[in-house]
Amino acid sequence: MLKFLTSGESHGRGLVSVLEDFPAKVPVDVSFINADLKRRMGGYGRGARMKIESDQIEIFAGVRHGYTLGSPIAFIVHNRDWVNWSDIMSVEPNPEAAEKRKVTRPRPGHADLVGGLKYQFDDMRNILERSSARETTSRVAVGAFCKLLLRELGIHVYSHIVSIKDVHIGPKQLEEVSLDAVSRIEASEMRCSDPSLDEEMKQAVDEAIEKGETIGGTFEVRAAGVPVGLGSHVHWDRKLDGRLAQAVMSINAIKAVEVGSGLESDPYGSEFHDEIFYKQETHEFYRKTNHAGGIEGGTSNGEEIIVRGIVKPIPTLRKPLMSVDFVSKEPFEAQYERSDTCIVPAAGVVGEAMVSIVLLQAVQEKFGGDTLQEIQDNLGNYRRLTQEM
Ligand SMILES: Cc1cc2nc3c(=O)[nH]c(=O)nc-3n(C[C@H](O)[C@H](O)[C@H](O)COP(=O)(O)O)c2cc1C
Repeated sequence: MLKFLTSGESHGRGLVSVLEDFPAKVPVDVSFINADLKRRMGGYGRGARMKIESDQIEIFAGVRHGYTLGSPIAFIVHNRDWVNWSDIMSVEPNPEAAEKRKVTRPRPGHADLVGGLKYQFDDMRNILERSSARETTSRVAVGAFCKLLLRELGIHVYSHIVSIKDVHIGPKQLEEVSLDAVSRIEASEMRCSDPSLDEEMKQAVDEAIEKGETIGGTFEVRAAGVPVGLGSHVHWDRKLDGRLAQAVMSINAIKAVEVGSGLESDPYGSEFHDEIFYKQETHEFYRKTNHAGGIEGGTSNGEEIIVRGIVKPIPTLRKPLMSVDFVSKEPFEAQYERSDTCIVPAAGVVGEAMVSIVLLQAVQEKFGGDTLQEIQDNLGNYRRLTQEM
């Protein structure tokens, strides 16, 4: 089953990733992967860093003549900004340079203080360089590899923005969201499927910038074409909803995850649950509603998978919060590092990556296979068996 490892500091030389157990003979479209990296860098309300970087992967191993080999895939994304930080991030000792950008005033809401205490560094740059969401670049590239395979199985993962601060998409617009809306979503700087909300959402960002504030919101990731039977009810750690929740929660700044209509506590049971119907022509069970978010009993039920990530207002503020200097123990205003204002649209792209990774793992668990063709054959056979039931 797919495993991956990421390595790299925000202002280091670059971000290295290794994927293990990725099946052979999957066509690799590098421009597709780079396009996802570009999507992660976008969104209205990003800071100066994203204007410096122009993320592209350089594949070192595991791909030959446009196809995966089944061997570990290794790639790097270079940090363009590294040239400005090479002495500060030096591998060789350089105490003078290290002192220049030493961080001793931990920023509330970041890993700075807890990381400094845990790893016993009084220079919290040693923590923030890795805890930075720059790491999510690697995850997006890994997720894009997974998407390349999933789409060969007819599974398509996409996302859109449900809310930015108090600007929410309406229930009618939400009903109209589908895979067909992707070009509309991607044309919007806020990645919102309702173009009439684009300006309002951008205004909320502008107001936050003016006030030296930051704002959060909610993204929704959907996966269309997922077969029945991924995950399982038999063990706590095989439940697909639990695995998706962990993966999405692991994204920087996510503080809650919702599957389907999970956060809606108002409806009666009869309103909440999705009634089951049967289509004679295709021999398939289906539902007319999807409050379950495509998962019942920890197992995909064939409807769209729907997972939301609730993003906190990011913690680096121009209007600084109070903190305590790690060395002197004196109260100080937290250090300001160049920062974004709103990252919800970008977080949605990272959400797609995490959902794609979990879905590919669940596909491999159910259908096995060393090659794409084997997975396709096993899936086709399973679909036939379920239709015969
Ligand atoms: C794509 C992306 C970009 C981010 N950029 C920033 C940023 O510029 N400034 C900031 O304070 N936090 C930013 N964050 C959030 C922090 O990385 C996050 O708040 C921090 O890692 C601690 O989050 P946690 O407590 O949820 O783990 C970003 C998050 C994501 C997903």
